[in-house]
Amino acid sequence: MVSKLDELFEGFKKLRIAVVGDAILDKYVFGKVERISPEAPVPVFEIEREEFRAGGAANVALNLKALGVGRVALFSRVGKDPEGAVLKKLLSDKNIESRFAESGEVPTIRKTRLIARAQQLIRIDRERREPLREDEVDYLLGELEKFQPHAVVVSDYAKGVFVKPLAEGIKRLSIPTFVDPRPKNVDLYRGFTCITPNLKEFEEIKTLLKVEGDFESSAKGVRNRLDLERLVVTLSERGIALVGEGVEYFPATAREVFDVTGAGDTVVAALAAVVTLTGDWRLACRLANVAAGVVVGKLGTAVATPEEIKEEFKRLT
Ligand SMILES: Nc1ncnc2c1ncn2[C@@H]1O[C@H](COP(=O)(O)OP(=O)(O)OP(=O)(O)O)[C@@H](O)[C@H]1O
Ligand SMILES: [Mg+2]
Repeated sequence: MVSKLDELFEGFKKLRIAVVGDAILDKYVFGKVERISPEAPVPVFEIEREEFRAGGAANVALNLKALGVGRVALFSRVGKDPEGAVLKKLLSDKNIESRFAESGEVPTIRKTRLIARAQQLIRIDRERREPLREDEVDYLLGELEKFQPHAVVVSDYAKGVFVKPLAEGIKRLSIPTFVDPRPKNVDLYRGFTCITPNLKEFEEIKTLLKVEGDFESSAKGVRNRLDLERLVVTLSERGIALVGEGVEYFPATAREVFDVTGAGDTVVAALAAVVTLTGDWRLACRLANVAAGVVVGKLGTAVATPEEIKEEFKRLT
């Protein structure tokens, strides 16, 4: 298995993968609260330190790069603001290319968490869910064509980037397309190669498409209705269900669970890289579980590297 894995990771280096979707700047403000304001009966938060992380679709790009994919480019929208520049810098530091439509009207999506004594006190969001303009869609599609990706991964948060004409343009590229979906946009994913909802999202998609029945028959129904090559449902601690003509289950491998956020990003990234290189969906699901297992076992940075994945495979065999 290990030599086969070496070959796989070697192969990733030759891949070019495009990520499309809503990029988010996650801001963490650490500080202390020791007194009440004289102005109003509210606590005063004193800032000690700030940290930025690339989130949303940008985290999928980070995961692909961590796996060793040769070229990764993120196609998204940012505002003409300092946050957009911070996002670009976070990505370029990891050798990820940015292809951003820069909007004068829609700001970069920013989610700010205030944290004191390891406790999150409040989250402050700045976002405007405006659909991408036609010229912005044309710009991103033009850049996509120039990039000549082997595959596209869509990380959709339904905040405006992934719109119908963009979905149609991506389909016209005739390359494998993987989507981490938002149920409300389900109609946009018709004809894509694969979507990777978690169980809750799958249930919502089922309801929206009015597909009935137990898990397996409804999963096959959703796959047929959306004309997908495969449907991959992530089942948290129960791993992954791979839905084609039949349904196969791949158990989760995590030994310890510290932080499950971002595991879905790791799954779609690993799945896309393996399927694009090998066409082997089973291998892709196994590797995706192991990579997600590495990520849930870590606090903070949510990516898995080839070394960590190989280590984990060794432990499992
Ligand atoms: N509690 C857990 N124990 C073991 N593995 C887990 C656990 N939670 C998640 N995983 C791993 O992570 C994968 C994705 O998790 P999940 O199904 O929760 O996706 P998600 O809800 O999309 O995650 P995200 O928080 O990133 O949106 C699972 O298929 C599994 O491999
Ligand atoms: Mg998810």
